[in-house]
Amino acid sequence: MKAVVYEGENRMRVSEQQDPSVAGPEDALLRVTTSAICGSDLHMYEGRTALPPGRVVGHEIMGVIERVGDAVTSIRPGDRVVLPFNIACGFCYNCHRGLTNMCLTMNEQKAHAAYGYAGMGPYGGGQAEYVVVPHADFNCLKLPGTPFDQWEEDFVLLADVFPTGFYGTELAQVQAGRSVGIFGAGPVGLMAAMSALIRGASEVYVVDFVPERLEKVKEIGATPIDARDGDPVEQIFDLRSRISGLRGRLRPGEEKLKGVECVIDAVGYQARDDRDYGRENPTQVLDNVIRLVNPAGHVGIVGVYLAPDPGAKTDEAKRGVFALPMAELFDKAVTVGMGQCPVKLYNEYLRDLIIMGRAKPSRIVSHRIRIDQAPEAYEKFDRRADGYTKVLIQFKDRAARAA
Ligand SMILES: NC(=O)c1ccc[n+]([C@@H]2O[C@H](COP(=O)([O-])OP(=O)(O)OC[C@H]3O[C@@H](n4cnc5c(N)ncnc54)[C@H](O)[C@@H]3O)[C@@H](O)[C@H]2O)c1
Ligand SMILES: [Zn+2]
Ligand SMILES: [Zn+2]
Repeated sequence: MKAVVYEGENRMRVSEQQDPSVAGPEDALLRVTTSAICGSDLHMYEGRTALPPGRVVGHEIMGVIERVGDAVTSIRPGDRVVLPFNIACGFCYNCHRGLTNMCLTMNEQKAHAAYGYAGMGPYGGGQAEYVVVPHADFNCLKLPGTPFDQWEEDFVLLADVFPTGFYGTELAQVQAGRSVGIFGAGPVGLMAAMSALIRGASEVYVVDFVPERLEKVKEIGATPIDARDGDPVEQIFDLRSRISGLRGRLRPGEEKLKGVECVIDAVGYQARDDRDYGRENPTQVLDNVIRLVNPAGHVGIVGVYLAPDPGAKTDEAKRGVFALPMAELFDKAVTVGMGQCPVKLYNEYLRDLIIMGRAKPSRIVSHRIRIDQAPEAYEKFDRRADGYTKVLIQFKDRAARAA
């Protein structure tokens, strides 16, 4: 089969690999129809993780089940499924509580396993024609329809970015009427904005500095904040102060609530500096989040912070150690939640929002490619060039041959 393989810093290659086979009685073999490239893959692409060369990458995967092991009962060959990027056992202490992002048994090194990712266990990636699904009864979400129908591009986003954006709104406690600020208009930030609107937020501001991405913010009905126009936090303070309806309802003291109640970091440790976009500043977004959140507000951090980071500038950053304005955070008495998204907690509900026409996450998809075009797509997505926002690798030839 063809697969995307990490070769080293800034190098992905499409190579011929042996077709994987079902190893255990609880596993299944999936024929991939669509696999997406994620902002998380860029951390590996740029050599900012400990991933050894030679690994097949990709963790946003959907397709059709080709074979199942003897012990698989609820998933059959021919079923159309999408895979949560977390690989989980279903029986450990954390899985029992729905926290499949912290599964204790699938990765010897730590809690949490995933397909084709640094530090997330030995599992093969899904930017490939086939992938093995461990514990298939637990790790597949069943889908209606047929490959490449009107939902294909929506459903593939259930593997990661739609649930992860939604999780950001969950951690930041977004509810009807609440005000929301989001840093990053990549796929995760855009999905957080869409989720916040679905949950009934009254105001949703999304900060970035990539014009095509800010355009998408507007398309989905949120307010874009272009960080190239000056301090994004001040811009949001200023915008809110000029909404006359909001000003007219203030009671004494409420002028201290010039920020927003719910803030989401959808950028992570590779954040750019606000005053110099060529420069990385790993705490830029966290500093801004803490300034923007109102007293007694809520923060959700879904942008990734990871170590070891061989490409970081300082020894501390290589270990993932950063200085934060802790006193301001404490003083404001905000709640902070963070981490990998437990996809399985949300993906059935989000799937049904898609089926019932209440969510159309594929609005963020910018490019559809064949697997041979993946190295070029990585390069362009990494530079956020030519509008590359969300890239889907489609395996249409293989689907046609299988039909
Ligand atoms: N928690 C999870 O489960 C989970 C899942 C998927 C992705 N992620 C992480 O989410 C983050 C975003 O991923 P993505 O797929 O959206 O891709 P992405 O990396 O393309 O998006 C990041 C966006 O942030 C913008 N940005 C950079 N510096 C900024 C700043 N100072 N202020 C505002 N915006 C800034 C970039 O221009 C870019 O558009 C990554 O760190 C990724 O690893 C986390
Ligand atoms: Zn992803
Ligand atoms: Zn588990």
